[in-house]
Amino acid sequence: MGEVILREDVGRVAILTINRPDKLNALSEQVRDEMMAELEEIETNDSIGVIVVTGAGDKSFIAGADIGEFEGRPPFDQRHAMRSPRVFDVMANYPKPVIAMINGFCLGGGCELAMSCDIRIASDNARFGQPEIKLGLIPGGGGTQRLPRQVGMGHAMRLILTGDMIGAAEAQSIGLVEAVVAPEELRETTLELAGKIAAMSPLTLKIAKEALRASDRLPVEDGLVYERDLFCLAFSTEDKNEGVKAFLEKRQAEWQGK
Ligand code: COA
Repeated sequence: MGEVILREDVGRVAILTINRPDKLNALSEQVRDEMMAELEEIETNDSIGVIVVTGAGDKSFIAGADIGEFEGRPPFDQRHAMRSPRVFDVMANYPKPVIAMINGFCLGGGCELAMSCDIRIASDNARFGQPEIKLGLIPGGGGTQRLPRQVGMGHAMRLILTGDMIGAAEAQSIGLVEAVVAPEELRETTLELAGKIAAMSPLTLKIAKEALRASDRLPVEDGLVYERDLFCLAFSTEDKNEGVKAFLEKRQAEWQGK
């Protein structure tokens, strides 16, 4: 376990908690490095099917990049700090499902990390925004690209150009989060969803995610051809044989991940 990322495995779900509550879980270089190390380990760990990302405490998911690291830093050092592979992109392209459990401030790099996740569940007191403009900056963790895809260009422009924060209900209404629950229900709701997904075939989940993610980059005609190919790839697996057989035998499927 790292110093600033805590890990708790609940069945086939790994909960990664950014543990800097005194700094509202700001994304320091150490947080990003430890997160990358966990992602690398979990990627090949067959006992984990789904990741949940959250922040420690009840006030903040992630309040953005660590602003303390920006002061006095030369631009080329900043460029080095932003070198690939970046945690935002690794998460967005991750083969296993990743769910953001948003328990408070979800700002800047926090909002960008949440958008790199596959599904977002927020507590009703969460606050969202891309406040970089107020620092004389723009989003640098994918916000200018992922936010318009997530909520549409107009809402993305409004959020990025004003730096304003919005509440959870509005975030849900514009499609920035998929569900909003009371704070005391956040963990249970998220783990229920994560557990349900983690009970599916890991191989089929991977193929489904690959098809869905392709819709971000492919024209629809190419995406449909790609989906057909991936469908036939799923068709070739032992898990497809088991899934179909279990349905016909009226029993639960037992996935092998093959
Ligand atoms: N980077 C580094 N430290 C941060 C931080 C960030 N992004 N966000 C909060 N903190 C620190 C504060 O400096 C403070 O530290 P201190 O107690 O050592 O002074 C601590 O976290 C608590 O924050 P505070 O501002 O006192 O809490 P608040 O409830 O008054 O305000 C926010 C909460 C989120 C509105 C405010 O902290 C804020 O605007 N943070 C910056 C958000 C931002 O611009 N993110 C994008 C960065 S590119």
